[in-house]
Amino acid sequence: MSIKNLLNARYGSTQHPLADLSSEALNALHTETFEGLLKHRSVRAYETRAVPEHTVEMMVAAAQSASNSSNFQTWSVVSVTDPERKARLNAVSGNQKHIDACPLFLVWIADLARLRSLGEQRQVPHASLDYLESFLVANIDAALAAQNAAVAAEAAGLGVVYIGGIRNQADVVAKELGLPSSSFACFGMCVGYPDPSKPASIKPRLPVSAVLHKEQYDQNAFDVATREYNTIMNRFYTDQKMNTPGEWDLHTLSRLSGEKVLRGRENLKKNVNHLGFELK
Ligand SMILES: Cc1cc2nc3c(=O)[nH]c(=O)nc-3n(C[C@H](O)[C@H](O)[C@H](O)COP(=O)(O)O)c2cc1C
Repeated sequence: MSIKNLLNARYGSTQHPLADLSSEALNALHTETFEGLLKHRSVRAYETRAVPEHTVEMMVAAAQSASNSSNFQTWSVVSVTDPERKARLNAVSGNQKHIDACPLFLVWIADLARLRSLGEQRQVPHASLDYLESFLVANIDAALAAQNAAVAAEAAGLGVVYIGGIRNQADVVAKELGLPSSSFACFGMCVGYPDPSKPASIKPRLPVSAVLHKEQYDQNAFDVATREYNTIMNRFYTDQKMNTPGEWDLHTLSRLSGEKVLRGRENLKKNVNHLGFELK
């Protein structure tokens, strides 16, 4: 697919700021990296073949190449291929069929345990680790690392989908993975070769005007953009034969209605405290 068509698919529309670029300017943007990013779609159906170990190591090298806060490198990843362990993780992550189906399940860890252990060994103060700031740093580091790994995996012909459901019962997951205190599984990632008989599509995003603000945040831009996006997503749901109730905004809000839909994550703060994060 050309960059132009990929951009149209990403916005579900031919009306986006890059649409009017000359083909010369568009060609200059046409790098393999940009094309790879535009092609992203979550993949939830896989071939059964395993992901080679060297490919996992390539993903980790990509992950380690991401920027990280102060070079603290406060993340780890646990690679799970044992079907029984995956099934147990799935049972506490909302029973999502792709977790059972994927040959490789990566669990990304916000990891302050390494630095805490260093502080103890060296017998120097490390009380900053008890603050919300450090917890946030570790989660940001994990997310940046994971996304680099995802991009590298997709470039190698793999498909991935992130799994937030892993936070439903953070305490159970920590036990299953033998996590040390001060580490937290912040999301999972199913990885596998996409099943060609069940291709996934590029999902349109909000119009640029909703997310790109010039100089100061423009709240009004969002109202217009949402109406536009509801129409775009209605078309997408119909094309994909997705049985999605209501328009995008209402559907999205229904997933944010409160405790009932948090599926255990309403206890996240308590669970995270128990995992050794004070969150001061
Ligand atoms: C942190 C995070 C957690 C996610 N958790 C889940 C999940 O538990 N199950 C799932 O099927 N998809 C999950 N997703 C995938 C999103 O639903 C998906 O990325 C989003 O709908 C956009 O679709 P796309 O990735 O195909 O463009 C998650 C994505 C992220 C970034």
